[in-house]
Amino acid sequence: SAPHVAIVGATGAVGEEFLRVLKQRNFPIGKLTLLASARSAGKTLKFGDDEITCEELTEDSFKGVDLALFSAGGSISKKLGPAAVDAGAVVVDNSSAFRMTQGVPLVVPEVNPGAIAEANIGLGSDNVAGIIANPNCSTIIMLVAINPLHQAVPVKRMIVSTYQAASGAGAAAMRELEQQTREALEGEVTTKDIFPFQYAFNLFSHNSPMQPNGYNQEELKMVHETHKILGQVEDADKMAVSATCIRVPVMRAHAESINLTFDGTMTEDQARDLIAAAPGVSLIDDRDNNRFPTPLDAQHQDDCYVGRIRRDLSQPEGVGLDLFVCGDQVRKGAALNAVQIAELLVK
Ligand code: A2P
Repeated sequence: SAPHVAIVGATGAVGEEFLRVLKQRNFPIGKLTLLASARSAGKTLKFGDDEITCEELTEDSFKGVDLALFSAGGSISKKLGPAAVDAGAVVVDNSSAFRMTQGVPLVVPEVNPGAIAEANIGLGSDNVAGIIANPNCSTIIMLVAINPLHQAVPVKRMIVSTYQAASGAGAAAMRELEQQTREALEGEVTTKDIFPFQYAFNLFSHNSPMQPNGYNQEELKMVHETHKILGQVEDADKMAVSATCIRVPVMRAHAESINLTFDGTMTEDQARDLIAAAPGVSLIDDRDNNRFPTPLDAQHQDDCYVGRIRRDLSQPEGVGLDLFVCGDQVRKGAALNAVQIAELLVK
């Protein structure tokens, strides 16, 4: 029979997107349980034409649950992810709590679907409980874009700069951007609940904790998660990756500028053909009209958009390429990727 699905953090930006994506993709659901904090208990959320009432998340929330989609932050995942597994559920966790844990698959379905099969976790008649981690949103969007190229000619080095949307910091951050924009237009920005800096009409270094080496945690996630997803953790010649992560006043789609150095020859045309043919990505690369991907193109879309594919003039011909990608942070960066993982589990 169809699985009993629970959404942990159902009232959040990603939680609400889970509901939309599950409905749109007609994911098989026997029963749907919506979980959030005590503040949201009793609140109703729409699932297609149905209205479902939120319940308070507790240790006992997972009785009979087959699939639990977690997106309520790392501390909730750490505390209750294992409880859900003990109750027999497969957990797909959107937080960073278990991403780098050995034995926990970290999966982008277009890139490393095989990691799930290897982990011996499954839904259905052969239900085997366990945790699967959904990667960091910027990592997902970057790897969906570069993987088709990397599979053809290995990437030796990748330099990425991000332009990250408010949604990555949750629904409250999206409201703060809206509120500050209103305040700025009216005279003075006074709301600063989520970010330490003015966000409207500004940008700033990513708000994740700064590390002693000068990188923030978001940037290091992009490095370490890339190696795990590509299966390079043990490799001596793993891809060299360096990232700079910036928060920009965009609502819900991330953009990334990516510079690639290949271990071989990759031409612009070859790259364009590979992206055009790959799942999960679409080209917007029209030089004549100066038309390239924007966050607004990407928002509410499943595909990530890639453009500005061009030779890196600082390198010998065929060795280096630059490109620009935009992807919906809430969707492919979080909810969609997790549901695609769940779909692989059902198969
Ligand atoms: P709530 O709306 O009741 O606070 P976002 O990432 O958009 O900020 O959303 C976070 C999600 O995690 C929300 O659904 C929020 O529920 C939920 N959440 C936050 N803290 C807790 C908690 N202590 N217990 C259960 N759910 C929580």
